[in-house]
Amino acid sequence: MPAGDSFFIATPIFYVNDVPHIGHAYTEVAADVLARWHRQRGDDTWLLTGTDEHGQKILRTATSHDVTPQQWADKLVTESWKPLLETVDISNDDFIRTTDERHEAGVQKFLQKLYDDGFIYQGEFEGSYCVGCEEYKQPGDLVEGTGPFEGEQVCAIHSKPVELLKENNYFFRMSDFEQRLLDLYEQQPDFVQPETVRNEIVQFVRQGLRDLSISRQSFDWGVKVPWDEEHVVYVWFDALLNYVTAIGYGVDDEQFHRRWPAVQLVGKDIARFHAVIWPAMLMAAGLPVPKAVFGHGWLLVGGEKMSKSKLTGIAPQQITDVFGADAFRYYFMRAITFGQDGNFSWEDIAARYQAELANGFGNLASRVVAMITRYFDGVVPVAGELTDADLAIRETELRVTAAADAAIERFAINEALASIWELVDALNGYITEQEPWALAKHDDQRERLATVLSTALRGLGTLTVLLSPFIPTATHTLWESIGQGTLTSQPVDRAAEWSSAPAVVPLAAGLFPRIEQPEPAA
Ligand code: MSP
Repeated sequence: MPAGDSFFIATPIFYVNDVPHIGHAYTEVAADVLARWHRQRGDDTWLLTGTDEHGQKILRTATSHDVTPQQWADKLVTESWKPLLETVDISNDDFIRTTDERHEAGVQKFLQKLYDDGFIYQGEFEGSYCVGCEEYKQPGDLVEGTGPFEGEQVCAIHSKPVELLKENNYFFRMSDFEQRLLDLYEQQPDFVQPETVRNEIVQFVRQGLRDLSISRQSFDWGVKVPWDEEHVVYVWFDALLNYVTAIGYGVDDEQFHRRWPAVQLVGKDIARFHAVIWPAMLMAAGLPVPKAVFGHGWLLVGGEKMSKSKLTGIAPQQITDVFGADAFRYYFMRAITFGQDGNFSWEDIAARYQAELANGFGNLASRVVAMITRYFDGVVPVAGELTDADLAIRETELRVTAAADAAIERFAINEALASIWELVDALNGYITEQEPWALAKHDDQRERLATVLSTALRGLGTLTVLLSPFIPTATHTLWESIGQGTLTSQPVDRAAEWSSAPAVVPLAAGLFPRIEQPEPAA
């Protein structure tokens, strides 16, 4: 896409019934890398995240802790969810809570419009509900329970029994949108990505859509239905609307039209809500559907989806305390094919930290800066005549920049990093072959030494620009030593055009210090 376009990216909003684990941080980091990249290529970028605070799940958790749901949500947002953004260095532009006044007012406005336009009717609802998923389940979604639930039908995701609901509710005419949704998937094949998730969604809609119960009467922790205050809005209907209430739906048309439609990043478990219910709601309201819905995979621990309830939850801070935020971000973006499941292990992150960040990139930076300091008193040398080897580095800089930009456009975050790493490897190979330390021993090789170190520094600066959306802290430190201007103002899609400072400043310490203890103490 041409630089300067609007790029609005949103993460799902997170349930505040529990504290964050690395699965949640994974979604945040991926969205943040995409946002930082787009921002740095000059797009009009907006990154939205937030919390999902209504519904039975939160109500029950709060009640079991003897506090009101509002008190519970306030505590979790302040003590856990906002701090998560600091822990993994998220550059969000806004944080929406579904208990915000602006959100509740927007939900009511949207709902009233759908009601006035005839998309909502009252009826009797009977069905199975999983409070863990906050979702009505079809018989095909249930499996035989085991252990304490043997003989019962349980939710396939939470392994817990579903609850039978019989209520008088309001319904959204979702079935009206079946054909329009199928047309959308057909005409805009990249609306749902990746292909695996798209196929599942198309399959699901082809089986036929039922109208959706969108209100509840048996509890009151939610947004009140504006024309019937006995009902609260179904938590997913409420939550999905955060993507438009946060950018001024119904109150600030200018901001709304500037930002909408969004790119939506979600875990594949909630792709159905975002690729079926959400576009149907938007179509009913006469609004454009999202630009794309990308369903990423799950983080697995020991081969299973990591979850707090199964005691496999790892807090992001356990990892950042040992390796730092940059390494957390790098590892998850590099080691897992974005869109597929990926296994986390301490051994793997420790190995990549050492081989790729400390030895691959960190040492390269230290060596180049140290040699310019030592052989040229820090003054950046001017290149003489270029050999094929020098030109090959220039060519690699341009090639990987274009490849990484194209990969980001396709949400192939790990491929972008793999491309950028070709430059890390090329520069390390170049230094080994050119042996600047040997050239430095001969006065008649002074010009060649200047050319080699100038070429290496140029490549290093290009790397710094390309890596800044992924590892913002280390690249900032390195930029302070070699670059001119502000790092985040360097156009990432023209990374090789960066300007160096007249002289480098020695790096006080390695960018990725040695880790003595790869696992936190038990
Ligand atoms: N509140 C809803 C979303 C509403 S959006 C309008 C919700 N919240 S959640 O807290 O349960 O999950 C938020 C996100 O975290 C989802 O995208 C989910 O897929 C992701 N993850 C939760 N566990 C995960 C892993 N183990 N691995 C990767 N992502 C995971 O659903």
